Amino acid sequence: MNSDSLKCGREILTAATRMVSFSGAGLSAESGVATFRDAKSGGLWTKHDPMRLASPEGFADDPNLVMDWYAARRRSVAEAEPNSAHQALASQPDMIHITQNVDDLLHRAGVRVEQVIQLHGTIARDHCHARCGFEEAIDLANPPTLRDCPNCGQPLRPGVVWFGESLPAESWQRAEDACAECDALLVIGTSAEVYPAAGLIGLAKSGGARIIIVNTQPSGASHLADVELIGKAGEIVPVLFS
Ligand code: OAD
Repeated sequence: MNSDSLKCGREILTAATRMVSFSGAGLSAESGVATFRDAKSGGLWTKHDPMRLASPEGFADDPNLVMDWYAARRRSVAEAEPNSAHQALASQPDMIHITQNVDDLLHRAGVRVEQVIQLHGTIARDHCHARCGFEEAIDLANPPTLRDCPNCGQPLRPGVVWFGESLPAESWQRAEDACAECDALLVIGTSAEVYPAAGLIGLAKSGGARIIIVNTQPSGASHLADVELIGKAGEIVPVLFS
């Protein structure tokens, strides 16, 4: 970890009046939740075909396969604990947290629900695949198998955004507003390869925000960084706020 860069990152955050975090799977990696694209650490999409497990077409083709795979992910999140990066973020009472993560680790670290924007939804809820409006909370430790919507009889599915689906409009609007208005954006553990989410970093930059990136390696957003800190989120993020 470069101490000059770390000092610069701390100064940016100390001077900021509106701080926003934008996180991806790397934020939860040290909690034991798998990332998507890291071949070295067994990223999910290096082992599984996302179109079979995370698309409306895959669900239509084999809904049991999809629900069973999500059940395994749900159990893995239930067994995980927030790490020191989640806790450091939770120590900032006014910070807004935009995350691509569908886990509940920011919430369990103590971040208030209204301060978390989950752009890709949450695995802690199921909703009706036909969008009749029915949804329900899931016990992540005892996840359900495939079952029908009690309202309309169509299958229930995880409340996450799949490939080919739009982001929830309200969450997206809140995320755009937060990025356009912030003066510091702390980007943690994302490959910044999935759009439109990754476009928020450029939006914040063009609105005048300083960009701090924490990642174990360079990412698709490295060229936007005012400060890039290469290393583990659990080691760097707490120091940024100490
Ligand atoms: P990726 O798996 O694409 O990227 C994870 C990033 O975290 C990589 O750049 C790693 O270098 C970094 N990383 C790994 N461990 C880290 C650690 N301990 N500390 C800091 N950084 C670390 O995950 P995302 O960028 O979140 O979408 O992927 C974006 C979206 O693609 C996901 O939300 C998901 C996926 O398809 C949906 O499911 C809709």
